[in-house]
This record gives sequence, structure tokens and C-alpha cells, in this order.
Amino acid sequence: MNENVQPKVVFVIFGATGDLAKRKLFPSIYNLYKKGKLSKNFAVVGLARRPWTDDVLRENVEDSIRNATSTEEDLQDFSSHFYYQSFDVTDDSTYDGLNKLIVDLEGQYQTEGNRLFYLAMAPNFFGLIAKKLKEYGLKESSGWTRLIIEKPFGHNLESAKELNNEIREAFDEKQIYRIDHYLGKEMVQNIEVIRFANGIFEHLWNNQFISNIQVTASETLGVEDRARYYDESGAARDMLQNHILQMVALLLMEPPIKLTTDEIRSEKIKVLRALRKYEPQNIYKYFARGQYGSGEVNGEGLPSYREEAEELAFSNTETFVAGKLIVDNYRWTGVPIYVRTGKRMAEKSIKIVIQFKDIPMNLYYKTDKERHPNLLCINIQPDAGITLTVNGNKDGSGSLAEPIQLSYNHNDVPGINTPEAYEKLLYDCTIGDATNFTHWDEVALSWEFVDPILEYWASKRPDFPNYKSGSMGPKAADELLEKDGFRWWDV
Ligand code: BG6
Repeated sequence: MNENVQPKVVFVIFGATGDLAKRKLFPSIYNLYKKGKLSKNFAVVGLARRPWTDDVLRENVEDSIRNATSTEEDLQDFSSHFYYQSFDVTDDSTYDGLNKLIVDLEGQYQTEGNRLFYLAMAPNFFGLIAKKLKEYGLKESSGWTRLIIEKPFGHNLESAKELNNEIREAFDEKQIYRIDHYLGKEMVQNIEVIRFANGIFEHLWNNQFISNIQVTASETLGVEDRARYYDESGAARDMLQNHILQMVALLLMEPPIKLTTDEIRSEKIKVLRALRKYEPQNIYKYFARGQYGSGEVNGEGLPSYREEAEELAFSNTETFVAGKLIVDNYRWTGVPIYVRTGKRMAEKSIKIVIQFKDIPMNLYYKTDKERHPNLLCINIQPDAGITLTVNGNKDGSGSLAEPIQLSYNHNDVPGINTPEAYEKLLYDCTIGDATNFTHWDEVALSWEFVDPILEYWASKRPDFPNYKSGSMGPKAADELLEKDGFRWWDV
């Protein structure tokens, strides 16, 4: 983050009564404000259908940021910058009122005409809102205007294109910030640094020395109260199309010639272009899907996905996906990239494991089976850090080896206060840095990859549920690796 810039801005949050605003956006704006990364010249307009008032919104904001160290004065000082307008996005008359409110606040808070519109609501309205913002002159101001769009960005390539066209009629690509919160995670941002600032890794970062790469994003939570959204989406749209493919792009891209938004994006785009697109009829060889059944975690009985809500009773939506990705380029030919993500799994863990190739002969293990490869694990969550598994002498054994781990845990660094992903990304947007947001080409290429998988799955009835809550997914996910002579590593 550029620590020196203190943006002046009016934030306009569509969906201000929602979960995302409360859990992520209000606390992030507060942290930026407390850390002096936002000037006192800011205001927030909250919009949603509910008939709230400024006071109700402010109470909600205070509740969302109240913690052991905050004083009431502090909370009120912050929340006094918030304003609420009951808003029906389909009703033209409300846009004039919104414009007037923003103009008033710009005068009151001297925000220099900078406007950040944040669409944190049902995606079916994204296009309409963008259009109306233009039509009613809300993007005409003396400062900058930017638009942050939450996922899902479309339902497939075609709908994503339509949405993109609608948005692009109103906003330029440079004004559009498609958020993928994984790109704001500290250790995801660290992938580039670990690779490109360390010869000991980067020199080995290719098909000569790496045997396979594994990306896992497992969650213990189930579908929670998002049944309606999730059942339309499933794990492939919810996690693979965006978060997982973004991490893959960062892991496999070539070093950028400069650390600029355009250079980094263009390297990521090349990776996504080199991803082998499978024909629908071959998907079964490369992808496995699952849906959680009931199970028991820590003595607590958990319902199956189909029991979570009435409308899910006959659902065939996948809550788990695992796949083998192949990247056809000079550096990565021959290196499988295994990915998996799912809900209600054994642990909450986001991690990347790089398995290095074995040396030709290793005399320090009695059998080949006992040999342990070198692994670099990039732990993204919960224990942010890196672990390098190497072979060392087994104590008292003479000349037998055993794996040992060299670990760096980011959370153990004294005084460290890593900003939350949303906090970083909001800040980036206010200073005009789009590096950690997804370009349209990345979104389109990701859908091109995911669409045939969804197409194939839609044509076949799955045998669900096929994994127990609290497990690491269906057997088929392990078999994907086993048939290549590998296994998932739990480092
Ligand atoms: C969101 C998905 O994008 O990411 C959720 O919609 C998922 O289904 C979440 O739970 C996971 O994020 P994190 O940061 O908890 O790994």
C-alpha cells in the first residue's frame, strides 16, 4: 500500500444493509480511517430497499466495528460520516435524489468530486445500475469515478459478456474494479514476491524441477444462509472460476517486466490463455465434483447439503470440485496443477503446495516408498506463512534421512498488523491501483475454461451426496492424483 496518500472520497454502497457491507466493508473503511489511510474528508452513502434512516445505518455501522478498544466517541465520530437512502434500483426517480445527496456531501466534506460506487448486491442489477449511473449524470463529477463490482461476474461466458457490455457502455475499463478478495490476501500477494525476489525458488520454478502443484481452498462452513445464491452457483462458479484460477495465474505467470498493473495483468492473462480447455466429453478424466452428506465434527451432528434448506432437497449442485489443470506453455508443459475446493470439509485451509522432483538417487531412505520429496507450502490461511520441507538426518540413525520443516509464520512477526483483504483492496481502488482486481480478459478466459465443465456436469446426473461433512471430499478427488502417482499433501 502507498502509505502517503489519504484519499478524499464519497463511497456509495449499493446493498448497505447486506452481510458483506456489515462484515467487510464498514470495518475496512473504519480501519483505513483509523490508520490515516483515508482523510477526514469522506462520506459514505448506504443504499438498499429497506426503509432505514441515517441513524439506523449508523447504529449498524457502529455494531459492525465495535470492539474492545473502540470508544463510543470514536464510533460516533466515524459513523457520523454515513448517510442512508432507501433505494429501488429499478425506480428512475431515486437516481436524481441520490445525485443531489452526493453533491451535498461533496460540498460538506470537500471530497473533490471523487466517487466510488460499490455494487454489493444481487448481480442481476449490476448492468442496470451502471447504466442509470451514467444516464442520471452520477459519474460526471470534477474528480474521479470508479465502480467496484462484486462477484459473481456472470453465470457463464455468455452472460458475463452481456454484463460486461452493459457496464462498459457506462464505464471505461479503467474505471471498473472487479473485486476478487483473494487478491487482497497477504499471502496471495506474497506469491509474486516469494517467486520473483528469490533465486532459490524462481530458478527452480519450471517443469525441469517441479513435479506438480496443488492448490487447496477448503472450508468447514456449509452453505449457511446463502442457499438461494449458492445453489445457482456451486463450487465451480463460486470458487474455481475466480479465486482458484487467480491463484493459479499468479503461481504460473512469467516475471513481469515492471510492477505495473498492465504488465502484471498481461502475464496473468497469458497463463489463462495457455490453460488447456477440455472438451466436455473429456471432463470426467480431469474433474471430480462432490456434494456434502451429513457428518459429525467435534461430536456435533451436521446436516447434509440437501437438508440445509427446503429448496435444496433435490439439489444436484456441487459443493466440492477438484481438478487437474494443464498449462501448455514452455515453462509448464508436463506439470499437472491439481486444485480442490469445497464446503464442509475437515478444515478451513487455503494453501498451495509445490512438489519438487526427486533427485535421481536417494540413498538415505531404505525404500523408494519412504522417500519424501521437497515441498514448498505457501499457507494462505489460517496460518499465513511458508513451510519448506527438506530431508535431514534422522537422529541417531547414522545415515538415514527424514523430512524436516523450515517454517516461517507471518502471524508470529512481532507488531505485525496485516490489513484484511477488503481493506487493502478498497484502499487500492481509492488510489487508482487496479493491479489486484481482475481485468475483463481474465474473467472471460476463466469462464471459457469453466463453461465446458459445467456443460458436461449438467448433462450427467451426479450420485450425490458423495462425501461426508468433515472429510476432505470425495474419493474421486484423491484418485485424480493417484492415477498420476501423486497424493494430496497436508503440510
Ligand atoms: C467467497 C465465496 O467468494 O469466498 C464463499 O462466495 C466462500 O462461498 C468465500 O465461503 C471464502 O472466502 P475466504 O476468504 O473465507 O476463504
